[in-house]
Amino acid sequence: MKKLVVLLVTVVLWGCASMNESEVRQARIDNTVRQMVAQMTLEEKVGQMTQLTLEQFAKSGQDGYLILDEQKLRDGIVNRHLGSILNCGGQARTVQNWQEIITKIQDVATKETRLKIPVIYGIDTIHGANYVLGATLFPQEIAMAATGNVLLMEKAGEIAALETRAAGIPWNFSPVLDLARQPMWPRVFETFGEDPYLASAMGAAYIRGQQGDDISNPIKVATCMKHYLGYSWPQSGRDRTPAYIPDRQLREWFLKPFAAAVKAGAVTCMVNSSEINGIPVHASKFYLTDLLRGELGFDGFIVSDWADIENLYTREMVAKDRREAVKMAVLAGIDMSMVPYDYSFYDTLVQLVKDGEVPMRRIDEAVNDILRVKYRLGLFGNPYPTENLAYSVGSEGSRQVNLQAAQEALTLLKNDGDLLPLAKGRKVLVTGPCANKLSVLNSGWTITWQGDREDLYPQEKYTILEAIQEKLGQENVTYVDAVAFDKELDIAKAVAAAASVDAIIVCLGEPPYCETPGNIEDLTLSEPQLKLVKALVKAGKPLVLVLVEGRPRVIRTIVDDAKAILMAYLPGLEGGRAVADVLFGDANPSGKLPFTYPKYPGGFVWYDHKPSEEKGGNKYDPQWEFGHGLSYSKFVYHGLQTDRSDMTADDTLTVTVQVTNISDRPGKETVQLYLSDLVASVTPPVKVLKRFEKVEVPPKDTKTVRFALGWDDLAFIGRDNKPVVEPGEFKVQVAQMSVRFTAREARK
Ligand code: BGC
Repeated sequence: MKKLVVLLVTVVLWGCASMNESEVRQARIDNTVRQMVAQMTLEEKVGQMTQLTLEQFAKSGQDGYLILDEQKLRDGIVNRHLGSILNCGGQARTVQNWQEIITKIQDVATKETRLKIPVIYGIDTIHGANYVLGATLFPQEIAMAATGNVLLMEKAGEIAALETRAAGIPWNFSPVLDLARQPMWPRVFETFGEDPYLASAMGAAYIRGQQGDDISNPIKVATCMKHYLGYSWPQSGRDRTPAYIPDRQLREWFLKPFAAAVKAGAVTCMVNSSEINGIPVHASKFYLTDLLRGELGFDGFIVSDWADIENLYTREMVAKDRREAVKMAVLAGIDMSMVPYDYSFYDTLVQLVKDGEVPMRRIDEAVNDILRVKYRLGLFGNPYPTENLAYSVGSEGSRQVNLQAAQEALTLLKNDGDLLPLAKGRKVLVTGPCANKLSVLNSGWTITWQGDREDLYPQEKYTILEAIQEKLGQENVTYVDAVAFDKELDIAKAVAAAASVDAIIVCLGEPPYCETPGNIEDLTLSEPQLKLVKALVKAGKPLVLVLVEGRPRVIRTIVDDAKAILMAYLPGLEGGRAVADVLFGDANPSGKLPFTYPKYPGGFVWYDHKPSEEKGGNKYDPQWEFGHGLSYSKFVYHGLQTDRSDMTADDTLTVTVQVTNISDRPGKETVQLYLSDLVASVTPPVKVLKRFEKVEVPPKDTKTVRFALGWDDLAFIGRDNKPVVEPGEFKVQVAQMSVRFTAREARK
């Protein structure tokens, strides 16, 4: 036996000679993990595959300070070999409370168990470490996508990682890589919008920021790409309901951000709670194993979503009982079950293996992948929180980055007669249900799951109203609480107040929500809000709308009533300030819509629609297009050209374009490059985003932007569901300009 070990080690080390440093590290980890798995009992292995929620181990602390029930904790970790715990036990906790919780958990795991395997603790750090009190809470993903600023996304990812790890938590259930193709879906705000390229670029940047080069770095976390796959296109618009997605669409849209995330090194993956074409993804070997592992090359571990193995027999009805559900999910490729309340998965899976219905080989694979991540995170070396990282949570530097992110996200949709920015010396009326609350600026995944506990928000932060008051002086700001989201309060009072001001700022939008509770029946903005605008416009004063919403609520009937419309999305804890900065000219808006803003509550047509959708009697008529967003600067595009008029598979096509800022204001502009394949064997979309870059252009200055396109960029998913480039004519489009080039077969 000894000889065998020596031989194995020699073989591994010999193999290492031709590897780089990180490959050597990985080979060592793989070797150690293999040895560890070989020592484990069946029960120890299945324990590693089990994840329970923190509530199960809480003695007290639904409100405030959480105290663990040590007996329950011991029972879980020592007797059931529990490998993972998640969530926050109801609400955000102080960093000190987190450190105590994690320390206690790891004490039990590493001091009281036979193999001393640390627990991997996972949490939803969705827009910053939202379950750590005092953390930097960024704009939600949808707004980060609007910034078009990949470096800023990476930086935000870094800060969120640091503040999560400060709590002692090394695993983050983020980024969401679902595409917002169904505007009613209540999780639109958690996504990077409708476009696969934008989501891929932003997702990869986030992963780089969170993981760095080495996730054992104590300020980094393991990311979890979710919710694989096709979750965001429910036909009904309601959360966790069926999607029907042809393979071509699946690959053209939904798969791409996950492929990019695998490439960027995402180490874990969470599964779509629902189904595609009648197959729950939790029960699909094709999606989980063949496609994700086989084709995309994912080599981390796959965790179920909340109770979703149970759901296979209680909700989806593809299994007759728990036993069948557990077997189905594990054989499909789920490595860890977010059970989350009991040991039913553990007991059932142990029995299934004993009965020979799930092979030990499959269990070993799963445990192997889980332990590899634990090793890569450095948890075996040190599973404990780094105490003094607590001081870096919510630093002034991070707040500045957050403010910049919120400012850059804000998207100016309309600005007739250059109404904005408003002069600071004027009197304004501020009204609308989003004017004076912090919760509406943050929504779900903020301090609590639903993000609706206004009383728990940090009161030193500014609502939109407070930020405007600070800027203009209280005496120049009249506030009327005229409507709630779903009822009128005092519209007449707001109308009366409008008579004595110079401009009206109406903050409209959505109450906080998250997941299924955020389902809606109608995409149209609520009636009382529309009514408020209709009443106010009669005052004859310039009217500005600020939209505080996680998905594009239809506002067609009031668009003409407003001279200016600013889309704020869910801009985070600095959102109030950012909105005031933009309204009064202390910041110049540079956001671009990451989705098509629909004009009507049905019949959605995306920016990358097919030619037939705008021909004949059909009209492409969104309220605002994907990529739209104005600035206080005036940018003029010119000089679009390619360095060649044709290309083959071996060539790179370089596209250059100039952007001149002809105004007196410095500004930032996201330059977007779209490509159209003019004729193809599968109806080609009218245009597809292929590149973007955000540039800062000083007044009266010009920036040249250069993009390189390769052969793969010309590909679409062909009739055989594989990527293909067909020779022929293509059109490159930037702003209103376009140039054509030809793709040719390689020269023989
Ligand atoms: C959500 C996931 C989340 C998980 C754990 C689920 O309900 O769908 O996005 O990561 O809960 O909180």
